Amino acid sequence: MLGFVPSRPYVLLSCATSADGYLDDATPRRLILSGPADLDRVDEVRAGCDAILVGARTIRTDNPRLLIRDPRRRARRAARGLPAHPARVTLTATGDLDPRARFFDPGALRLVYCATPALTAARARLGRREDSAVLIDAGDPLSLDFMLSDLAERGVARALVEGGGHVLGAFLAAGLADELNLAVAPFFVADPAAPRLDLPGPAAGGPMTLAETRRVGEVALLRYLLGPGGPDHRFLRWAVELSRQCPPSDSAFSVGAVVVGEDGEVLATGFSREQEDHDHAEEVALRKLTQRKLGPDPRLRHATLYSSLVPCGARASRPVTCVGHIVAAGIPRVVFAWREPRLFTAGEGAEQLRAAGVSVTELPGLAERARSVNVHLTDTSST
Ligand SMILES: NC(=O)c1ccc[n+]([C@@H]2O[C@H](COP(=O)([O-])OP(=O)(O)OC[C@H]3O[C@@H](n4cnc5c(N)ncnc54)[C@H](OP(=O)(O)O)[C@@H]3O)[C@@H](O)[C@H]2O)c1
Repeated sequence: MLGFVPSRPYVLLSCATSADGYLDDATPRRLILSGPADLDRVDEVRAGCDAILVGARTIRTDNPRLLIRDPRRRARRAARGLPAHPARVTLTATGDLDPRARFFDPGALRLVYCATPALTAARARLGRREDSAVLIDAGDPLSLDFMLSDLAERGVARALVEGGGHVLGAFLAAGLADELNLAVAPFFVADPAAPRLDLPGPAAGGPMTLAETRRVGEVALLRYLLGPGGPDHRFLRWAVELSRQCPPSDSAFSVGAVVVGEDGEVLATGFSREQEDHDHAEEVALRKLTQRKLGPDPRLRHATLYSSLVPCGARASRPVTCVGHIVAAGIPRVVFAWREPRLFTAGEGAEQLRAAGVSVTELPGLAERARSVNVHLTDTSST
């Protein structure tokens, strides 16, 4: 049984730009915007995804490999039963793809979403390499919604969209992006002929939610959350995505947690078993904010804790429940997606939090997504 299949993957857009917003210069040679540290960061992001998508023009101009470079990351994926490299995905309206492009090299599943009128031409061009790539009729005009639901059906839970400008703009304009990682390089291109983010209209969903700013070598990384529902939904969706990083377990849930300060700053994140075997996600995030002598970070008294699963109110593995940790830290507000099924303990965390004066918001629209990460535990109890 396949369990719950989300209607579309979590879509993470990733690109590097110059300080004046260009994705490349206008010369035939590819402009390198990221340094080694940022390329390594992207490699880590790739390793956490099931598919990497680029537009057909990026394949034509940059001929990217779309592989995971670090062998330790490939080994980590293999240990989790995943292919060494994510699937490679592209989309095309014309079918103009060179079968000798590195995109078609062996080593990863290759998916080509093609607009219906160009299918015959694409099949003719790809020739014998079609047997190493799957050519998919994505409608006329090509439908991004169809492509994402088809990727979900193929088991893609996280899709990384790496450009170029046209494809990134199409996802933003259609409101189909959950996250944007923007690496800003410390120089200008200053050439209007160079490509940049190409939005056909205003981005859907209003302003993005800034979740992180970080120096990575010489570039500034800006991590934005997008998508419907405003900051609560966005931070909670991010918590669900963190739960995918949990070391697997047959006897404990995989949960993600994000603690956000009053001013919207992300104070800490955590996921189950992140530091020690019996760790719960909320416990890990709060541990990161507690100094041995000074006690809990005072910012927690105005913070919101987002957790993909309701914080535990009973626990066999350790004496203090997550409800206990949250109340002790003075956190006034908790937002969660999924009510704990009665598999391991009686899940009365929400009621206990409310009784302790904590404001609790449940966003059940994200419950199935949170549960899908734990489907190996819940299949027998699922409806
Ligand atoms: N800085 C970075 O992080 C970064 C990352 C990637 C790329 N880049 C740069 O970006 C530039 C390429 O960007 P670009 O905007 O020109 O091209 P692109 O976004 O890579 O690809 C556009 C192409 O993808 C296909 N496509 C996209 N949306 C489609 C839709 N909704 N329906 C059907 N087909 C669709 C079409 O292919 P067909 O033409 O085959 O129909 C379209 O021409 C290059 O200079 C590259 O170096 C920069």
